[in-house]
Amino acid sequence: MKGPILSFDGVRMVYHTPAKETLAAENMSFSVYEGEFVAVIGPSGCGKTTVLSLAAGLLPPSAGSVRVRGEKVRRGMPCFGYMLQKDELFPWRTVEQNLFLPLEIKKINTPENRKRALALAEKYGLGGFLKSMPDQLSGGMRQRAALIRTLAPQPEILLLDEPFSALDYQTRLNVCDDVYNIIRSEKKTAMLVTHDISEAISVADRILVLSARPAHVVAVHELNFGDTVPLKRREMPDFSKWFETLWKELNV
Ligand SMILES: Nc1ncnc2c1ncn2[C@@H]1O[C@H](COP(=O)(O)OP(=O)(O)OP(=O)(O)O)[C@@H](O)[C@H]1O
Ligand SMILES: [Mg+2]
Repeated sequence: MKGPILSFDGVRMVYHTPAKETLAAENMSFSVYEGEFVAVIGPSGCGKTTVLSLAAGLLPPSAGSVRVRGEKVRRGMPCFGYMLQKDELFPWRTVEQNLFLPLEIKKINTPENRKRALALAEKYGLGGFLKSMPDQLSGGMRQRAALIRTLAPQPEILLLDEPFSALDYQTRLNVCDDVYNIIRSEKKTAMLVTHDISEAISVADRILVLSARPAHVVAVHELNFGDTVPLKRREMPDFSKWFETLWKELNV
């Protein structure tokens, strides 16, 4: 594994609203390494989305620093692809037009980039649905389209916020496998936040456990599943061992 690509050092995040101040993250320090799949788990409302927004440079930390390869993050850096907690495709655009959206926004809507986005869609089973409207796709396919849309501008680091939370259980397991395979075969670094312990164990190389708000890192675990796909991991004896460990850490 190569050096750290993303690092948090003593990060604190306070939200200010006219009514109150909310301390969302406190003294957070961790690194994410190139090519690594890191899952971040923590209780509801602990500050998981905040951590991703800080990573992407969308929020400036109140103290401490967030760096990409040693450089302070800034809003709009092209190295990030951020898939939001409710990442919906625009219903009035075809699948193809949705895939091109980030290229338009980032003003890199070139024939080569469109071709690459379409090749990804073809490779991952959406080739026959490019002219369809999103509501003609299954939930799982929409999720795959959202991921391909995020990949279209070729980010190095994917930030995924509970990407499966809107799906029913069965679909969720299958889409999790799909997303895992896409991220691995495109050789991306990924940071996925979730409150679902099983989901984290099934995708990650390493898991960061966050405390209740204000979020800070209470444990870091290196998993030992190698390149085993999520559905297969769930059948392995170590899966329940990890589940028990993480369950205890989240329920202290
Ligand atoms: N823009 C904002 N302004 C003020 N407070 C905010 C803002 N965004 C988040 N917060 C507060 O910060 C805390 C952490 O929120 P955050 O969304 O990061 O948690 P989360 O772990 O992602 O939650 P969930 O599990 O519901 O997705 C919460 O108390 C929330 O109310
Ligand atoms: Mg959230």
